[in-house]
Amino acid sequence: MTDGSMHADYARGRDDGGKGSRAELVYRYRFRALAAVRSAPMLRGGRLLDLGAAEGRTLGEMMRLGGPAQAVGVEISTDLVEMATRLGFPVIAGDVQDLPAEIRARRFDVVTAMAVLEHLPDPAAALRSAFEVLAPGGRLIASAPSPFWDRLAGASGIHKEQAHHVHEVDGAFFRRTASAAGFVRIRTRPFMFVGTAFLPYLGLVPPVELAQRLEAPFSRFPFSSIFINQLFIADRP
Ligand SMILES: C[S@@+](CC[C@H](N)C(=O)[O-])C[C@H]1O[C@@H](n2cnc3c(N)ncnc32)[C@H](O)[C@@H]1O
Repeated sequence: MTDGSMHADYARGRDDGGKGSRAELVYRYRFRALAAVRSAPMLRGGRLLDLGAAEGRTLGEMMRLGGPAQAVGVEISTDLVEMATRLGFPVIAGDVQDLPAEIRARRFDVVTAMAVLEHLPDPAAALRSAFEVLAPGGRLIASAPSPFWDRLAGASGIHKEQAHHVHEVDGAFFRRTASAAGFVRIRTRPFMFVGTAFLPYLGLVPPVELAQRLEAPFSRFPFSSIFINQLFIADRP
């Protein structure tokens, strides 16, 4: 079976300007962090849990942009947890489908699971775990690649990380599993316009704030196939 966990090479690819750096990975994690923060105003001064935090760069960006009072990430790969510690990001080892006891004992205002659900054998278990640790009124923000673009990127070899995807997660799946976990006000929207998402492969990296501003009007229309990602939002009653 495909292994959904990632390793040190992935983190090196996200070291902006470093050896092995890959512009498309840097662009994507910054884009996801900004999209998450913009969807969770309660993050400012609140408590953030980031599921599948890798080496913590996306978490670090959400902390910088969103200003939570407390933040912690959970990651299954011990290589990546060690790297997060070296980089100064608060990531602990654990499985997001069955959270460590020290996390289950805490409550959070925002739980993020960015580009993670598609890596899990049991994404529904991760949604139940998120529900359990959210405070009443708290919010889950998740993202997953659009299944169409993900298959294409994998088949063409352009996006090597696709090999670690064990599930296709679409809006219908998210609505069904989030609702079964107890979430309400479940919303999904496409994001990351394909035209700008592929520019970093050509060495052109648009500022993520500008890219999100330009694509925002289009995400309300029913052409979701022009976006390579989906954003999922759900609230705990
Ligand atoms: C594509 S990366 C996304 C990293 C980060 N969330 C982001 O948006 O940049 C997915 C991460 O989830 C981790 N992961 C996979 N299965 C996991 C599990 N069962 N529990 C915790 N983390 C897991 C992988 O090792 C990898 O670091």
